[in-house]
Amino acid sequence: MTLEIESLAYGGRGVARDEGFVVFVAGALPGDRVRAEVTKSKRNHAEARTVELIEAGPDRIPDRCDHGGEPCPGAPWQGLAYEQQLHHKSEQVMDSLRRLGGLTGFELDPIEPAVEQWRYRNKLEYSFGERDGEIMLGFHARGRWDEVVDAKDCMLASEANNHARNAVRAWAHDQGLPAYDPADGRGVLRNLVVREGARTGQLQTRLVTSAAEIPKPPVDLHTIIEGPGGSTDGPTGVLGAELLEEELCGLRFAISHRAFFQTNTAMAERLYAIAAEFASLSGSERVFDLFCGIGTLGLSLAGDAGEVWGVELVGEAVGDAEENARRNEIDNAHFIAGDARKEIAPMLAEAGPPDVVVLDPPRAGLSKKVVRRVIECDAPRIVYVSCNPTTLAPNAAQLVEAGYGLTRVKPVDMFPQTPHIECVALLEKAP
Ligand SMILES: C[S@@+](CC[C@H](N)C(=O)[O-])C[C@H]1O[C@@H](n2cnc3c(N)ncnc32)[C@H](O)[C@@H]1O
Repeated sequence: MTLEIESLAYGGRGVARDEGFVVFVAGALPGDRVRAEVTKSKRNHAEARTVELIEAGPDRIPDRCDHGGEPCPGAPWQGLAYEQQLHHKSEQVMDSLRRLGGLTGFELDPIEPAVEQWRYRNKLEYSFGERDGEIMLGFHARGRWDEVVDAKDCMLASEANNHARNAVRAWAHDQGLPAYDPADGRGVLRNLVVREGARTGQLQTRLVTSAAEIPKPPVDLHTIIEGPGGSTDGPTGVLGAELLEEELCGLRFAISHRAFFQTNTAMAERLYAIAAEFASLSGSERVFDLFCGIGTLGLSLAGDAGEVWGVELVGEAVGDAEENARRNEIDNAHFIAGDARKEIAPMLAEAGPPDVVVLDPPRAGLSKKVVRRVIECDAPRIVYVSCNPTTLAPNAAQLVEAGYGLTRVKPVDMFPQTPHIECVALLEKAP
């Protein structure tokens, strides 16, 4: 189809309309005229991906990151000027809270812009593929699980990260190892994950392969995955450094490869500073840190709190959180491994009611049941760090129904050149 793009939808795709029929087009921005391939079609709308940019919209700026002529799949908004990216993100936070949550009367603070607009990611996951018998190591082309574009200098990654990826590709080429082909389950090389301590300069490389015997790879960790599936998580052998270290908020953290860590180090620090401002601790409060990962947020608040209690599902992350408390000589933090759905109630019984709950769930947000567990904590303040305003909205609405007021929301741009939006929301109980 040839389409004219009118606006941007939540999630970042361009929107084209034709007599009431709506097409969401990946890789297209407002004002663009594109040739697009329909990937899914329903009665009133379709999904499509851009095949050719016939005419760029008047506001489009030139791409800075491409891989052999393919625009970088990790930077779908790079054609939008940065000010426009920030504007759209703020609008989408406001729109989600109003439209999906029916929420009004809160203050929407100006969006916190990113410290760095490029080379800000401290973690990238690359995929192996082949073209004309040559090994490729880069990203899946937009909307294509079967095609990998080779990355030589990804502008979202640091130079050290790019160098590490290129060195592993050169090794794979020299060894003549084939890429894993998900279509027939043959081949060997699946993914490479490169993580970096932006402040410590440490780099961690993890190769993911099929179960085939291979020569010792030049990486820190080697994960073997048998059978199909796109996950990079599996049994992992240690060949080099096991833990990665990073500095944040004046503390030093150890990170296991299975544990979550904020992908933009400089902006994680800004995000936590905003959460701390909203928490407004005076030194004596009991703080619950739900979905605490390796404890970064809770430990960064511990110096201004009476005590911190964290809950996290991934066992290795909880081990890291405990180790991180020890390393930083923080002795007022406790961490519990388990599902927040089950662990909040016993933690409440053991610790007593919190003065502040901070929570930072995955994109899916909280189930209604977990929101009920949070309500039972009866904290005067809840600081909700959200990476998805469309799930924050119904969660916040449920909290408002239970007697909280949504007072402040501040969007934070953790991921320039992408449509991903982070924000911090403050919910307070009327005194
Ligand atoms: C967005 S991360 C935030 C982590 C941490 N607050 C930080 O800033 O690094 C969400 C965390 O929730 C954890 N998680 C996911 N589902 C969970 C559940 N049902 N119960 C407890 N933790 C969960 C994930 O493992 C991850 O560490």
